[in-house]
Amino acid sequence: MQIVNTKSELSVAVSKFNKSGRKVGFVPTMGNLHKGHLSLVSAAFDECDVVVVSIFVNPMQFGENEDLATYPRTPESDIEALSAMNVDLVYLPPVSDVYPGGLTNQTRVVVPGLSEILCGISRPQFFSGVATVVNRLFNLVQPDCAFFGRKDFQQLLVIRKMVRDLAMPVQVHAVDIVREEDGLAMSSRNAYLDSKQRQQAARLNQVLQRAASNYMEYDAITDLERDAREQLASYGFRVDYVEVRRSEDLEQPSGDDTSLVILAAAWIGSTRLIDNREFTVHE
Ligand code: PAJ
Repeated sequence: MQIVNTKSELSVAVSKFNKSGRKVGFVPTMGNLHKGHLSLVSAAFDECDVVVVSIFVNPMQFGENEDLATYPRTPESDIEALSAMNVDLVYLPPVSDVYPGGLTNQTRVVVPGLSEILCGISRPQFFSGVATVVNRLFNLVQPDCAFFGRKDFQQLLVIRKMVRDLAMPVQVHAVDIVREEDGLAMSSRNAYLDSKQRQQAARLNQVLQRAASNYMEYDAITDLERDAREQLASYGFRVDYVEVRRSEDLEQPSGDDTSLVILAAAWIGSTRLIDNREFTVHE
């Protein structure tokens, strides 16, 4: 496994892959890798001949009062896990390699509409930060395929829209959410939870699952969303949002939509968790 820290080394390695005609799969991450990330790597190996992983805690997608400074950074164990999976290339750049002209001077990608709802309301810079860095990484890695988790469902759709709108020659693949035994979606931010909060956190998925399976019992989606919010509050969460949307584009569902998703963001103490459940409505 080759590890590179600069875009020039990355370009040399990538051009060799491309010249050899092999299909390149790319998994962008912020490191502190867990089984969720590694399932993206497995999916990339299923689909592609060569797998490239990036590890970069992207400052542009963090708000001023967010956890950029404390975000867990574990490069040694990340490299060990990726090497054990025979990943071909890891790009682990410093901030100066990704934003050589500084953050404020960086050209940005803005994905309108989708970036302004749900998580985009409480994190207004977030999706532009994600789209900007992923665009840059795509240009450097030139992958045939890129892999994103359904855990970050809105992010997945933002990336798909960016790829479509800018005609990027990359196939975006979505990978299912990997969960802990009690149903909590794996996330690097779970490490912020103490043992009591960790137990509480499992309620998030339970509430969403219950809401999705009780969907037909409600006349109004707003009632279902209110009940889910109240349940989360009763378990000690500070709820940011709970919303049912069309899974295709996160628009409000109309009567004939059958593929839906219930998405939530909620705080336990100072930790913000997100999760979602996709479900199908049968006529
Ligand atoms: P990060 O949070 O490290 O996640 C990297 C990828 O792993 C994302 O596509 C995310 O959806 C996926 N992932 C995380 N937890 C998962 C789980 N439990 N099951 C399945 N997939 C999971 O998302 C980012 O980094 C950044 O925003 C990034 C795209 C790298 C841009 O900076």
